[in-house]
Amino acid sequence: MPETFTVLGIVGSLKKTSFNWKLMRRAKAVATEGITFDVFAYLGVLPYFSEDREGERTPRMIQDFRQRIESCDAILVATPEYNGSMPGVLKNALDWASRPPGESVLDGKPAAVMGASPGRYGAARSQADVRKVLTAIGAEVLDRELSFPRVHEMFDDQDKLLDLETGPRLAGHLAALIELAGGATPAEESELAEYSRTCQQLASDQRVAEAA
Ligand SMILES: Cc1cc2nc3c(=O)[nH]c(=O)nc-3n(C[C@H](O)[C@H](O)[C@H](O)COP(=O)(O)O)c2cc1C
Repeated sequence: MPETFTVLGIVGSLKKTSFNWKLMRRAKAVATEGITFDVFAYLGVLPYFSEDREGERTPRMIQDFRQRIESCDAILVATPEYNGSMPGVLKNALDWASRPPGESVLDGKPAAVMGASPGRYGAARSQADVRKVLTAIGAEVLDRELSFPRVHEMFDDQDKLLDLETGPRLAGHLAALIELAGGATPAEESELAEYSRTCQQLASDQRVAEAA
């Protein structure tokens, strides 16, 4: 693993109060030492993809977006589900990143996907589509999803995360992505396991306290 492992988060929601954004920020917060975690915040201002805008006409912000992907070690996509699939804004960004043919910055790039929705399946269909598209582009896609169903119940009115198992789940997903990209060290794995045990204990203590 490189000395500093860089993850680029991409969130497929433009909503100010987006749950997927909240979870991406939480993923950034649980990233252990040695991981630089940036989140791309300009998906909504990327122009619509057109083959007429390729080559010398490629907009500057698309070049920047591609450069951000190129310079990271792995990407983590958080996606909502719109009508059974990914939001158009996310597909648009992935289409830009896939070009020009043979020079895609996503080719061979380790990638993981997660998703949240207030529904029962946690954006599972959208995640499956994002993974399918990333695979078509040539990314090295983590063979598992991370779903957050009924996500509106996971936060209180002040946006405090109520579910203590979310941190370890995000940390586990990140660890799997890092392993896919080059392998986490045994020390990091045992730290993660320890962190996961602590959070599970806290969650169990909270359940006992609430039941009392
Ligand atoms: C156009 C549209 C279509 C939607 N379709 C689905 C859907 O197919 N499945 C689902 O679980 N939720 C669906 N939803 C609800 C979203 O999951 C919900 O708005 C969610 O909070 C979006 O994620 P975000 O909070 O990160 O923006 C849809 C919402 C919109 C606006």
